Amino acid sequence: MPKEPDAGGAGPDDKAARALARLRRKAATCRECPLGERATQTVWGEGLPHARWMFVGEQPGDREDREGHPFIGPAGKLLAQALDELGWPREGIYVTNAVKHFKFEWRGKIRKHKTPAQLEIIACHHWLESEIATVRPEVAVALGGTAARALMGRAVKVMSERGHWLQREDGLPVLVTLHPAALLRGDPAQREAAVRAWVADLRKAQRGPGRSKPAT
Ligand code: URA
Repeated sequence: MPKEPDAGGAGPDDKAARALARLRRKAATCRECPLGERATQTVWGEGLPHARWMFVGEQPGDREDREGHPFIGPAGKLLAQALDELGWPREGIYVTNAVKHFKFEWRGKIRKHKTPAQLEIIACHHWLESEIATVRPEVAVALGGTAARALMGRAVKVMSERGHWLQREDGLPVLVTLHPAALLRGDPAQREAAVRAWVADLRKAQRGPGRSKPAT
């Protein structure tokens, strides 16, 4: 959709970019739940300030926590491969997480991912909503159950609701699918088929609700 400059000369993308930068600075010192004390840093969302599509994951992983960017580790690599296959430039979407700090436990020398608790997801929820209100995506893609729950405000059965369009109370269509990390953890013998089904879900998100051809 063409972006019209506003009265002050700055386009809506500039305004949204500034608003996102302000939110990112505020979130950098967030201690509304205990996770911020142990994590290296807050990992804020990244991408086009007025992207049509917002992808929402669960929480940053080990590498994201150390480097400060969402989806740059193994799960991010799988997501990048799927987007490449769909001819869907990552720069055109906005990628974020339901929880902005890495939750982990030490297993020897390895920081092992721990699923965030409901209270932590709730504490972080206003940051996700502020990203949605600023970016105003046309479509959200929930990668996994934590993201789906944060977006929908209810528990979502990912395996039965995947690939279906859900709608939030504010009208935002949400397509739920698996988290790429779940595919990486799954049975290697089934992985190829699982990835194919996942890419088919993402293709549906790319087309948008009610569209039969990829949106440009
Ligand atoms: N998993 C997520 O849910 N988000 C990331 O940013 C990385 C891995």
